[in-house]
Amino acid sequence: TLKAVVFDLDGVITDTAHLHFLAWHAVAEEIGITIDEVFNEQLKGISRMDSLQRILKHGGKEGTFSDEQCLALATKKNAFYVQSLASLTEDSLLPGIRDVLADIRTANVKIGLASVSLNAPGILRALGIQHAFDFCADASLIICSKPDPEIFLAACAGLNVRPEEAMGIEDAPAGVEAINAAGMLSVGIGSGLNHAGLQLDSTRELTWKCLTEFWASRTY
Ligand code: G6P
Ligand code: MG
Repeated sequence: TLKAVVFDLDGVITDTAHLHFLAWHAVAEEIGITIDEVFNEQLKGISRMDSLQRILKHGGKEGTFSDEQCLALATKKNAFYVQSLASLTEDSLLPGIRDVLADIRTANVKIGLASVSLNAPGILRALGIQHAFDFCADASLIICSKPDPEIFLAACAGLNVRPEEAMGIEDAPAGVEAINAAGMLSVGIGSGLNHAGLQLDSTRELTWKCLTEFWASRTY
């Protein structure tokens, strides 16, 4: 039986994926690198420092900045990002999320969070949903970014369920890979997530009914 549902945060629970993009876009422009939304797909689910490395590589500037300069760039990005988070309120949940969280709880299935964002606790508080989760994996303890399964395995361990008893929900290719690699059932939100066990166009479709039907139809 299904014992837990583990959520990604940015781009699944709230639209912070776009705010991450805007902050990186501003920092990248300052060092002469232009990034667009297509390239940004590769940054989703990737930690702050790894994201910076990908941007530098994308702009042909890999290895041109010292560790200190990289840290300063990442710190600047985070300052922009945190500023933009001030706009988050309890109304910033993506469509359907409040209902699906409530329905999962009513069904007595555990709810976990697997976000590599160090800002996750603050974002949950701003959204007023910190109590909706039985366990949130601690991003500061995670060594490998998605697509490594580490954070999803940490979430399952914290929830005290086996990965085969859980499903994960993601908006990023790297995140779907991480769920699959953990041995969990994967749900992808948005386009281009061909490796997800179930693909949905938006969180509007992410209902408890849809999740239970998917669970019942699994083939392993
Ligand atoms: C999530 C987002 C990424 C972000 C990462 C780290 O995975 O999808 O875009 O880079 O978290 O976030 P942080 O808030 O710690 O910089
Ligand atoms: Mg995401």
